[in-house]
Amino acid sequence: MCGIVGYIGPRQAGHLLLDGLRRLEYRGYDSAGIALLNGGGLEVIKTSGKLSNLEKALVGRVPSGTLGIAHTRWATHGAPTEINAHPHTDQDGNIAVIHNGIIENATAIRTALVNIGHTFESDTDTEVLAHLIGALFQGDLEEAVAAALKEVDGAYGIAVISAQQPDVLVAARKGSPLIVGVGTDEWFVASDASPLLEHTRSVVYLDDGEMVVLTRDGYRVRDLQVTEIQKPVSQIEWDLAKIERGGFEHFMLKEIFEQPESLRNTLRGHLLDDEGTARLLGLNLTDDELKRIDRIVITACGTSWHSSLIGEYMIEELARVPVEVEYASEFRYRNPVIDERTLVIGISQSGETADTLAAIREAKARGARTLGLVNVVGSTIAREVEGGTYLHAGPEIGVASTKAFTSQIAALALFTLRLARLKDMSILQGRQFIQALRELPDKVQQILDRAPDVERLAEEFLDSSNVLYLGRGVNFPVALEGALKLKEISYIHAEGYPAAEMKHGPIALIDENMPVVFIAPKDGVHSKIVSNIEEVKARGGKVIALVNEGDAEIERLADKTFPIPDTVDLLTPILTSLPLQLFAYYVAVRRGCNVDQPRNLAKSVTVE
Ligand code: F6R
Repeated sequence: MCGIVGYIGPRQAGHLLLDGLRRLEYRGYDSAGIALLNGGGLEVIKTSGKLSNLEKALVGRVPSGTLGIAHTRWATHGAPTEINAHPHTDQDGNIAVIHNGIIENATAIRTALVNIGHTFESDTDTEVLAHLIGALFQGDLEEAVAAALKEVDGAYGIAVISAQQPDVLVAARKGSPLIVGVGTDEWFVASDASPLLEHTRSVVYLDDGEMVVLTRDGYRVRDLQVTEIQKPVSQIEWDLAKIERGGFEHFMLKEIFEQPESLRNTLRGHLLDDEGTARLLGLNLTDDELKRIDRIVITACGTSWHSSLIGEYMIEELARVPVEVEYASEFRYRNPVIDERTLVIGISQSGETADTLAAIREAKARGARTLGLVNVVGSTIAREVEGGTYLHAGPEIGVASTKAFTSQIAALALFTLRLARLKDMSILQGRQFIQALRELPDKVQQILDRAPDVERLAEEFLDSSNVLYLGRGVNFPVALEGALKLKEISYIHAEGYPAAEMKHGPIALIDENMPVVFIAPKDGVHSKIVSNIEEVKARGGKVIALVNEGDAEIERLADKTFPIPDTVDLLTPILTSLPLQLFAYYVAVRRGCNVDQPRNLAKSVTVE
């Protein structure tokens, strides 16, 4: 989603900000712009489309200036045109604003400003905010921004500069992430850490309702009133190499291939072999408190929602605690039944997804205990929940989530193990589960070693216009995830279904042009899925099946099979999802799609 980067310091800001925008490209955007204070006033340059357009517009004329702000916009209000791109300026053209989020009362403010003579160029809520700050400006940008923000409803992460105060950059957040980068005699703001890493590892995470004022002498954090706030400076552990492609053609492929390592990192330090359980110190729940939990709600969006469904199967099967999985966007707006014995778990790669964050807040307000399984350290959800565990999957830059998904399943397996051992799971069963977890990274590697086979498979199905993914039990969510991966990066229509549900509708779609991907490891529902494969074959469908090695029965029936190493039934999704990620990747690349930045998608969805 929109990216913000701002700079104040001794260096020329132009190229530095453009480099920052490049690091933010992965978030997804459709226009970009930059504003610099160059001594002679404010210079704003913006373009629609990709950053290369902005770079072209700047050839030979990158404005000079040591203070500036830059933005990649993911359209919410108004089309992705040059006029609607950020930065937006106030009525006099002195103040420039970049903004992530949505100002909900923009229409009312706009009308009020029009009534006092303001004219607007764009359709955006951000231009309204810029005009409001301008209207309230009386020589002090910090005060004008604070006053304006008191008038607005909605979500924002903003950065503001003014030609009348060429040594000040003001930024603020409510509902949209913002980080301050603390360098040596230079300071940054950004919507995430990626543009900061080549300059500094020291950061301050702003919380909702906080403003930061950056000057040439340092920074101050305050609220919208006048109270100064002391914030800790944190160190980012990810290094630059981790957010670069390292020889892979795309981030998505790199991240798929990182999964043996990311899984090891997720599991590291948590497995207690002797006791046959998992150590999860960050849960902040005692054994007694965990035992008292009589219901679990897992809430998330997209791919994280799919891993949540896998968690439901695992927890109910092994720990025998009832679990419901809720789309965060639905949970937050209904009237969920929750009490202090309900545990609400939010799952999120970015830790910034607006709906998931709001669902967690809703759960807390209703008295539930909250946990987070989050990848990005220091993200808003990670700071909002009462406990949880980081995934430690490393930065995920490709828009389509891959390694975070398998790490989420691994983290859910750890949580399940911990809970199950407090309930009825024996130490022996616990040890067997640990052994299976420990073996997963090598088995993942075995699958990755066969990537060329998946590539050949993808070649054959490039021209499909629909693909059906079917699975049963814990592999039903894998079917959903496989379909999501394919549709979001290749734009081929794909649907995931529980295999038996096919008879209740989707079977009508099956003909000789319809590839059907079956996720069919030899688990407790294997014989049932064999019958479902027969049903598809009887109607001429093309069957691609993920099977355990030596599954002669399905090998005979299916048009194509791909072998998956054995593991315990509940952990098969970590293995079965791999070939589906690779399949989506190779199909999309062959179709000429931009897999790392699929159209219309954003990496971190910070608006509801
Ligand atoms: C799909 C994908 C999205 C995210 C969803 C939630 O590949 O990445 O569906 O899973 O937007 O994002 P997080 O996990 O950051 O909360």
